[in-house]
Amino acid sequence: MSLTPPAAVIVLAAGQGTRMRSATPKVLHRIGGRSLLGHVLATARDLDPGRIAVVVRHERDQVAAHAQALEPAALIADQDEVPGTGRAVECGLSVLDAAAQSDQAAAGSEAGTLTGVDGPVVILAGDVPLLDAGTLTALLDAHHTDGNAVTVLTTNLQDPTGYGRVVRDTDGQVAKIVEQKDATAEELALTEINSSVYVMDAGVLRGALGRLDRDNAQGEVYLTDVVALARADGGAVRALATDEPVLVEGVNDRVQLSALGAELNRRLVTAWMEAGVTVVDPATTWIDVDVQLEQDVTLLPGTQLQGCTRVATGAVVGPDSTLTDVVIGPGATVTRTHGSGAHIDGGATVGPFTFLRPGTHLGQQGKLGAFVEVKNSEIGSGSKVPHLSYIGDATIGEETNIGAASVTVNYDGVHKHRTVIGSYARTGADNMFVAPVQVGDGAYTGAGTVVRRDVPAGALGVSGGPQRNIDGWTVSRRPGTPAAEAAQQASGEQLSAQARGESSRRDATDSDAQQGKA
Ligand code: UD1
Ligand code: CA
Repeated sequence: MSLTPPAAVIVLAAGQGTRMRSATPKVLHRIGGRSLLGHVLATARDLDPGRIAVVVRHERDQVAAHAQALEPAALIADQDEVPGTGRAVECGLSVLDAAAQSDQAAAGSEAGTLTGVDGPVVILAGDVPLLDAGTLTALLDAHHTDGNAVTVLTTNLQDPTGYGRVVRDTDGQVAKIVEQKDATAEELALTEINSSVYVMDAGVLRGALGRLDRDNAQGEVYLTDVVALARADGGAVRALATDEPVLVEGVNDRVQLSALGAELNRRLVTAWMEAGVTVVDPATTWIDVDVQLEQDVTLLPGTQLQGCTRVATGAVVGPDSTLTDVVIGPGATVTRTHGSGAHIDGGATVGPFTFLRPGTHLGQQGKLGAFVEVKNSEIGSGSKVPHLSYIGDATIGEETNIGAASVTVNYDGVHKHRTVIGSYARTGADNMFVAPVQVGDGAYTGAGTVVRRDVPAGALGVSGGPQRNIDGWTVSRRPGTPAAEAAQQASGEQLSAQARGESSRRDATDSDAQQGKA
């Protein structure tokens, strides 16, 4: 936290971002699960400023709605048709001044005595996502300690092409900033560049903005011209150079978007490893900014943790899993799984090849196995859905086993209905639970049962008539086929076996029960 929290932060987000070649405004593109503007607003909030203003113009409504959804107290400043960063800050400052004055009037000040924002104002670009509050705090502290009118955040680049160059005086102060297109050959050789991040005193800004002209190569109102004006007025302008250029890098196209996204991820993954998370392959592990991981979590290669996913200690996730807003309890394992909006309790196992949809809650020590899809369902502790099933809109008690290839038939074409299965139940393979329907505690169902009526606790539910075998059907109805030949050969063998006095009849008792013959 800075010695002096800023009076305000102005975030510049009016630019078009042509080089993104996108229908989406540039500052709404995302890295690490958050929009570029969202990253900048989060950093702004960390500075604890009096107010935040976001300057908008291109796709104004979309950008303004996004900013206010993230930061309801943010003021929206509309930039008019006058182009340039100087005009953008002027628009931001006038909205901040109006808000300050209405605060003063509300507190009882006389109309003639109202003043605007007073104190240091931080200026940020909405397309610089990696800038952190620590760097800005150092900038604010330098501004305060040195008594500057303007403090510019700069960095040195091997290739400074395209950026404004910082021209220093013999005493180290900043004399001016020249844009690439306005620079002399000598100035172009300078490698210290303007990051477009500043602390400026509100009074200095107010005094200078009205005097900016558009007499430059781009015909724009340059914010950078405030530097020379502040100096001419007797103010001190100093620069603080960061030795991490990536912190002040802006996104102008999708190549930079992915490069900064990868850099952000590298930083997040490194921080989690330092916090005690095992990441087997950092290069293929992607973690969003709002994800929470406990100590001794293991992430296997190809894992993407998105949104507000939380993973508790001892859990193992991956390989090749994508989880969005999934909460995983201690010691659970989630293997090759795609999920969102699900809760997996401690010790449970999920996967491989499991699809978790919103509203899934798997209890402790539960299991969801291969090719199982679950949606909006409670599955109690110790219960298992091991193979090839769809469970939707269901409530399943504890220690119940759902047979392979079962489906909760939850949709009648108009409404969704619930399936309720109790605890310690054993449902057979290939069951259809035609909801709404209930299976009681300790009940069984036979294989292939279409459960259309409730099965009471402790009962065995079976459906369909007894199996009927029509002897000789293949030979008489499919003569000449390989199946008929095989059947003939088998019956020949059977006849000779009978002639030898052997029986080929199977033992009936156990397998009949399994096939649903009550
Ligand atoms: C600006 C600086 C340059 C610096 C560079 C760093 C000026 C004149 N130049 O150049 O010294 O090296 O940033 O990236 O300030 N914006 C508006 N309204 C506008 C124009 C821009 O809100 O009318 C916003 C953009 O959305 C962006 C930021 O201001 O967030 C910077 O604009 P950009 O056009 O990228 O500035 P540059 O010309 O690159
Ligand atoms: Ca730029």
